[in-house]
Amino acid sequence: MVSRDDIPFLPSLRGLIRARNSTQWNELKQILWHSITARFARKGNIFPLAWIHPWSNCRSTQPPALFQMMAGYWVSQSIYVAAKFRIPDAIQGRPKSCREIAEINGVNEDSLFRLLRVLDGLGICTKKKEKYELTAQGRLLQSDVHGSLRSMALTLGEIHYQAWGNLSHSIRSGQPAFNEVFGAGLFEHLNENKADGDTFNEAMSDFSGLVSHAVALAYDFSGVQSVVDVGGGHGKFLRTILGMNEHIQGTVFDLPGVIEGTKEYLSQFGERCTAIAGDFFKSVPHGACIYILSGVIHDWNDDQCIAILKSCRTAMVESSRVLVVEMIVSESKPCFSTLLDMNMLVMSGGRERTESEFRSLFQSAQLEVTRIISTLSPHKIIEGRRA
Ligand SMILES: C[S@@+](CC[C@H](N)C(=O)[O-])C[C@H]1O[C@@H](n2cnc3c(N)ncnc32)[C@H](O)[C@@H]1O
Repeated sequence: MVSRDDIPFLPSLRGLIRARNSTQWNELKQILWHSITARFARKGNIFPLAWIHPWSNCRSTQPPALFQMMAGYWVSQSIYVAAKFRIPDAIQGRPKSCREIAEINGVNEDSLFRLLRVLDGLGICTKKKEKYELTAQGRLLQSDVHGSLRSMALTLGEIHYQAWGNLSHSIRSGQPAFNEVFGAGLFEHLNENKADGDTFNEAMSDFSGLVSHAVALAYDFSGVQSVVDVGGGHGKFLRTILGMNEHIQGTVFDLPGVIEGTKEYLSQFGERCTAIAGDFFKSVPHGACIYILSGVIHDWNDDQCIAILKSCRTAMVESSRVLVVEMIVSESKPCFSTLLDMNMLVMSGGRERTESEFRSLFQSAQLEVTRIISTLSPHKIIEGRRA
């Protein structure tokens, strides 16, 4: 890759003069033009040397930002494979050489050396005296640590990555690429493929661990006697709420295939918590104080969301509240939820929504938004009651 440091001024000038007569001139002219206009647009460094090559970005050896974005999956797949082969698990404890890690994980030493070099560049590990150790970020790729993102790296690198490979199908048809690639809807596939289902549910639980604490801190559960976690997966969200509020009785409600796995996680709460299997498009358990829908609404299209919210409404009594926990798309500034929105389109045909879109869903299900509460996480709590 050519950088500005590789292009001293005079030789470059000479090169440019020579190039004027070459077959490359037309292409080079366009590159120079893009480079110059981009620099003016950014009002950055307008010193002519910096214009010489578009990759001549302030003494950097990096290619242009656009190229780096296009190769984004090189980064995500490198992280995925490191997580899959449990490289971070092997490194933890004490710094280790590449050979030691290769032996522990049974992988090719030269390939591992090259992968570790990438991970070092990404700030996931560091190399000191030929030994590798994890950074704070790298430790999140270990399997058994609080806030672990290992299962998330796996599900993103496997089923999500394959579905995203067919993004064009979603853009052309408006339908989830996942169904085209896997021949079934997301939750149907997870139910029928245990390994993918377990990884997905673990990833959701790990993520819930972070969001649920933020929600438990932001929402006052003191007068609440019972909570149903609708589409609650392995119940991680509810476990946090119950752990922080000893007076609450809880129920996790999810599909039969998921609930089987949920039960083992609830034993610590004894009779305070039950797991019920069912279909939230048909009905949910009746009469609870709070119905939580965390990371559920964004999986579905508007009609399906209205059906889920209506099931909750039917089960609610006058004093019940529904809490939808989601990120909210900003109508004024770019935010991560716009990318998450693409992920929802690809994976299940769902979407991320703006505040007014949530209000309109609630209204269509005869619910009224009572409050929108910010949390310490990017997620908000949209609280509603029967209209
Ligand atoms: C994205 S996950 C969110 C899990 C959990 N609420 C959390 O925050 O970790 C969506 C959940 O909805 C469940 N689900 C999907 N379709 C369902 C249905 N028809 N009835 C009940 N649960 C369903 C899935 O099994 C999954 O656990």
